[in-house]
Amino acid sequence: MIRLKEEEFTDIVKYMRQEYGINLEKKRVLIECRMTRVLERYGLDSFSGYLDMLHRDRSGEMAGEMVNRLTTNYTYFYREPDHFDRLQDAILPDLLEHVPSGVLDIWCAGCSTGEECYTLSMVLKEYRRSRNDACRARILATDISGEALEKAKKGVYPVKELEGLPPEWRRRYCGKTDGRTFGVEEDLKTCVRFQRRNLMEPARASEKFHIILCRNVMIYFDKSSRERLITTLEDALDKGGYLLIGHAELLTAKETRLEPVYPAVYRKKRE
Ligand SMILES: C[S@@+](CC[C@H](N)C(=O)[O-])C[C@H]1O[C@@H](n2cnc3c(N)ncnc32)[C@H](O)[C@@H]1O
Repeated sequence: MIRLKEEEFTDIVKYMRQEYGINLEKKRVLIECRMTRVLERYGLDSFSGYLDMLHRDRSGEMAGEMVNRLTTNYTYFYREPDHFDRLQDAILPDLLEHVPSGVLDIWCAGCSTGEECYTLSMVLKEYRRSRNDACRARILATDISGEALEKAKKGVYPVKELEGLPPEWRRRYCGKTDGRTFGVEEDLKTCVRFQRRNLMEPARASEKFHIILCRNVMIYFDKSSRERLITTLEDALDKGGYLLIGHAELLTAKETRLEPVYPAVYRKKRE
């Protein structure tokens, strides 16, 4: 394994924080483990040589490769089920009462390999089934890791991942399996659009979302990046819209103008 010298470690930590908000201050060994093979592929035996190349690379390819290696993409289907139940019981009915077009815009920010946005797609289908409702949605699913997004677009997962889903959902939405892997139903994909996007960018004025899921992303950020992210998410929410964060990511009244409505769920005032 190629070891990091102190100034090389500081340089990588600074770069990842400035560019992507990710705090790697306590991840020295993780960086060494995950990056050694990348350095070897470039024929390098030190991080200094790699960092010189990275800072000179204008294509963005080396940065993209480092992000693929250093982000934590851990996710699974139906993670934090409380949110998906709450969506069906309270959030969707409330929004559909107030959104005249009946079309909901949803942003899955930090979608990783796609399990979260496909679970959401299943929830929307279940909602339509149970209520005979015409609820329609457009889901924008974004992440900074190009590699995670490629997996998400394919929508093919190890069969072990099926275990997290209710059995009838497996039957309805997880069709094709070759014994080792399964693919999510094509129908689940039609309302999802994937895009590589850095959450350190400000919100786009042309976009407003009725629901934003940004779960288990800000736990990896430092304080100032987290504040920046919260502002972006608030700006991107439509009036009356809901923000869902990870259950381990409490927002304080000081940090947000949004009102807490359920555990790890916040709403923007409608007025
Ligand atoms: C632990 S996963 C969470 C996935 C999913 N939201 C969930 O809760 O299961 C965190 C994701 O955030 C993404 N991420 C981290 N920093 C980001 C940034 N600056 N912009 C966009 N995505 C980022 C990572 O690439 C990773 O896929």
